[in-house]
Amino acid sequence: MLHPSLVSAVLLLAGSLGAGSTNTRNTPVEAQSLPHPQVLNVGGGQLSPDPQVINDNFAATTTGCPGYSLHSLTESQNGLTAKLNLAGAACNLFGTDVANLTIQVTYETETRLHVNIFDTANSQFTIPESVFARPKASGSSTAKNSDLVFNYDATPFAFWITRRSAPHATPLFDTRISSLPATPIAPVILSDNSTALDGFPLIFENQYLQLTSALPLGANIYGLGEVVSSSGIRRDVGTDGGVGTIQNDWARDIADPVNENIYGVHPIYMEHRFNSTTSTSQSHGVFLLNPTGSDILLLTPPNSTVSLIQYRILGGTLDFYFLAGPTPSSVIEQYSSIVGTPTWQPYWGFGFHLCRWGYPSLAAVKDVVARMRAAKIPLETMWNDIDLYQAFRDFTSDPVSFNGGEVREWIEELHKNNQHYIPIVDAAIAKEVNSTDIYDPYRKGTELDVFIKNPDGTEYIGQVWPGYTVFPDWFAPNALAWWTEALSNWTKGGVEFSGIWLDMNEASSFCDGSCGTGIDISNTSTPFILPGEPGNFVTEYPEGYNATISGPSGNITVNGTLTYGATDSASNGLSARGIGAGNQTGVELNTPPYAIHNANGRLSNHALATNATHAGKYVELDTHNLWGLMEAEATHKALKSVLPGQRPFIISRSAFAGAGKWAGHWLGDNFSKWEYMYYSIQGVLQHQMFQIPFVGADTCGFNDNTDEELCNRWMQLAAFTPFYRNHNVKGAISQEPYVWDSVANASRTAIAVRYALLPYWYSLFANASLSGTPPVRALFWEFPNEPELFAIDRQFLVGRDILVTPVLTPNVSSVDGIFPGRGKTIWRDWYTHDVVKAVSGSNTTLAAPLGHINVHVRDGAALLLHQTPAYTVEETRQGAFSLLVTLSANGQAFGTTYLDDGVADPPGPSTTVSVTAGKGSVKLASKGTFHVAQKLAEVTVLGVAKKPASVSVGGKAAKFTYASAQEKVVLTGLSVDLNKGTTIEWK
Ligand code: GLC
Repeated sequence: MLHPSLVSAVLLLAGSLGAGSTNTRNTPVEAQSLPHPQVLNVGGGQLSPDPQVINDNFAATTTGCPGYSLHSLTESQNGLTAKLNLAGAACNLFGTDVANLTIQVTYETETRLHVNIFDTANSQFTIPESVFARPKASGSSTAKNSDLVFNYDATPFAFWITRRSAPHATPLFDTRISSLPATPIAPVILSDNSTALDGFPLIFENQYLQLTSALPLGANIYGLGEVVSSSGIRRDVGTDGGVGTIQNDWARDIADPVNENIYGVHPIYMEHRFNSTTSTSQSHGVFLLNPTGSDILLLTPPNSTVSLIQYRILGGTLDFYFLAGPTPSSVIEQYSSIVGTPTWQPYWGFGFHLCRWGYPSLAAVKDVVARMRAAKIPLETMWNDIDLYQAFRDFTSDPVSFNGGEVREWIEELHKNNQHYIPIVDAAIAKEVNSTDIYDPYRKGTELDVFIKNPDGTEYIGQVWPGYTVFPDWFAPNALAWWTEALSNWTKGGVEFSGIWLDMNEASSFCDGSCGTGIDISNTSTPFILPGEPGNFVTEYPEGYNATISGPSGNITVNGTLTYGATDSASNGLSARGIGAGNQTGVELNTPPYAIHNANGRLSNHALATNATHAGKYVELDTHNLWGLMEAEATHKALKSVLPGQRPFIISRSAFAGAGKWAGHWLGDNFSKWEYMYYSIQGVLQHQMFQIPFVGADTCGFNDNTDEELCNRWMQLAAFTPFYRNHNVKGAISQEPYVWDSVANASRTAIAVRYALLPYWYSLFANASLSGTPPVRALFWEFPNEPELFAIDRQFLVGRDILVTPVLTPNVSSVDGIFPGRGKTIWRDWYTHDVVKAVSGSNTTLAAPLGHINVHVRDGAALLLHQTPAYTVEETRQGAFSLLVTLSANGQAFGTTYLDDGVADPPGPSTTVSVTAGKGSVKLASKGTFHVAQKLAEVTVLGVAKKPASVSVGGKAAKFTYASAQEKVVLTGLSVDLNKGTTIEWK
């Protein structure tokens, strides 16, 4: 939780404590008596000058850096190894130049090339294998059969990557930057005069690494995150002297600002290259495996023929992986070979989830569940925020408002109704305030030595919701056992959860660095006013909201009709960087010389001090971005023991590359604004690339008040995103889907479509877990040769077949959308089955009255559906199947559906139902050992041009109906055993 309006408050507060101080500071945080964020500085004290002044103007100095020269080359079948020596006098730009480097190039698979440049002494931090298991080389891949080729110049050292198939084409990645003009680029001045290395030498210092590669001018770059990008899914590479993107990678608790660092870190990008002469395209991927804080810049020098990507990193090594693609989806799949494929989700996880911060009691939560049922809006999983806790402490429930015994009884009731319960778990653990305060997770954790420490070995204390806190150290040997026991005790105590929601795990702390040592920690209030409390009322509404005109429902003026009511320390900052990693000395841990563009300023602001230590081995400066990933892994493993045999269901806010193996993700503290509904699409698409496909936004918006119209549209849009949860901030108006009749209707409609499509969603996720194939897709991932699609992020595809065109603006009753395929693909309306009369290659206007979301089915699809969506996912599953086949122009269709029990971990027996249509028939065949109990009761085939004289199922004549307008054959009342398959024929 950090709302931008509070940033200044927290920074002021931090400033008043003395900038730059960290563990050595014992000054208390004046948390208790802060009347209003805007008057926080009444406590006295000035905002001290921030030592982390961002210096972008270092052209003169970079050009003085000598670069490296290559020698001692050893080549093998699978790659090469060589030494790189500093080619001149050290420039010591932002640290100390490392004189001796090693480069290892490995052709790991035919499509994956590993280029690792590291300090020969191995002193720099590298991500431990226990945290991130690097992929193994296939063994059979060689320099001769790889799709990618590593090329280099020895002096000055530079390398470039080409495709074997096109050795003379523009390289995919190229650190020889030779053709750039000498003009400076504002505001990031990279080169003010041409030097031997044209201003872009490889820089490898203990505290600063810089590498620059040429990109084609205006390149199509996707990925790099996590971010809310003003340029949409396609990142801005800038034009003529401009810096388009500064992607800062420092995990941060902040309410979704645009173009700034937020919760997760994913240093992977995909580039999509289109050849306008041949109208063909190829994609490739570049992943930097380095979790250290960094800036990644995309820019275009003035009058340049190329754009650039520049990495500026606070430490570690240059550990690059190049992925050959050549399609967008294959790049994403290949990325999963490095970071792992996403965890299997339970079938129920795809149901509708409801949450809010600010339910005052169990009674209030029960009431919400009852109202959902009364309104017949499917509720799969009820969530609780920190309201559940006693004194905001993890693993508790408030004995008064959430009476323990009653919580158990209520959750068991939910389970009986095939519903689920998920509570929040915050990252920080409350510190006992005095000797009479007994808080077992803290006590046990201290005994087991599982908390992060100050450099002198004492307990590191920060401040979060419960007051002063400690933080689990995932590197500590006992951490997993302790965490498992805490979760186990919690569920035994009555909070019988089905999954866990991991929050504040960047990790967030409300003060600047260490702030609780040697002071009275009995004051447990937060250093800012909680939303909804005097001084911080929630008063904002969506864009265009007009309460006077529209009543309490807000902006519901579609077509002019009101529908409402119708139904550190500079002083001793030098300490060893990390014993395990490298035992470097003379390193500035608290204020690294190069200040990355962390939008909070100092790295320790609203976070842990960067010299905090982990297991006596590592420092926070190096491991900060790994906290969320490691917590997700520990929680995943803990849930496997607490809920044996079941797939862990976990949603985590912070993530690093590879977190999808353990958890899903939500897009954090967004706003109840139309703009943020639009941003949710790019967020979902980004995380498909990042291999965390189970992702979604807080539906109807988190911060601020929503209104009826926005919530109506958003409940419909989010029904087509993987993680579907409505969540709201404390103090805002209610936004459960039953609050407004129109939203209730819209939700029932959209959830029914979602639940019908569950076998499809589930199969897409099985493919993701098996092969890394992205379930939700940008349009160009499926139609890579249509440049008009390259920036589309107001529409998206669920799998190959379902095109979603949501309304993203208020007060409209139509929406513009593009139908990919340039007129060759037939798109049919989900609801009416009518063929869309689409404009080829540009927008088509579609009717979109409130409560209707445009969904279209691609031709050539065969979708196995649940025939009758019911209240819960389980009841829906118990019903029969139906089949929707949409024939292509040449009369063909194909689809597969993956079925298993939906819960077992590891997955047990499965059956894949394949449907192949062509030449007047639809053939169903099954493979696998999972017994499919439900029958196929209904078949719809679209695209049968003439009414058939007869239709048979399994050789027996069957009754059917035909609708010529939709060229539709429908068979009902069937009872086909899907384990056996059958053939449907028409003549
Ligand atoms: C953070 C979370 C938000 C939650 C709040 C209170 O801001 O991102 O979802 O409601 O904390 O726990």
